[in-house]
Amino acid sequence: MEQDIQKILIPEEEIKKRVKELGKTISEDYKDRFPHLICILKGATIFLSDLIREINIHMSLDFMGVSSYGSSTESSGILKITKDIDQPIEGRNVLIVEDIVDTGLTLSYLRKLLTSRKPKSLKTCALLNKKVRRRVDVPVEYYGFEIPDEFVVGYGLDFNEKYRNLPYISVLKPEVYMYEVMKYEKE
Ligand code: IMP
Ligand code: MG
Repeated sequence: MEQDIQKILIPEEEIKKRVKELGKTISEDYKDRFPHLICILKGATIFLSDLIREINIHMSLDFMGVSSYGSSTESSGILKITKDIDQPIEGRNVLIVEDIVDTGLTLSYLRKLLTSRKPKSLKTCALLNKKVRRRVDVPVEYYGFEIPDEFVVGYGLDFNEKYRNLPYISVLKPEVYMYEVMKYEKE
């Protein structure tokens, strides 16, 4: 797996440090507000599990699955809810936990959907923010790092379901993407 990596963009220690800071900020901002975190599957699970252990106030948790990417690295704009949340969010202070906001299409769709269920407040915490790729203007109140226009993997983020288990954020060698795309197109 490691031979497929071209470069490490954000090393493990830096992620750890930033996640700690985010957890502290969220704990302060949501003090006495019992936030309800909604983790977007599957990419945000690693971030979520580290983040919530840095949150030192009462909170609750739910999961939602959306698919927007299919097997390629470009957003299709077509979204499907693959798993809805289990608990009602009416009157709750909801915090969406995402791995990355890229074009913003996924988050914008999710915000509309969740807003219609009348939460008391609705904000987002994303590990990564690719501002240069934004196609719709959508608020991202908390994020870990702004990154350049590069497709990244690791710490939950995948390419064709692989590399989620890398402990850092990295960029793959171009030939890895090419090989996967060729394989994908043949299927
Ligand atoms: P958006 O709708 O374009 O903002 O894309 C959001 C989703 O696309 C994220 O939740 C990721 O699952 C996926 N995505 C966007 N950029 C990357 C990337 O660089 N690596 C891995 N997944 C990505
Ligand atoms: Mg995702």
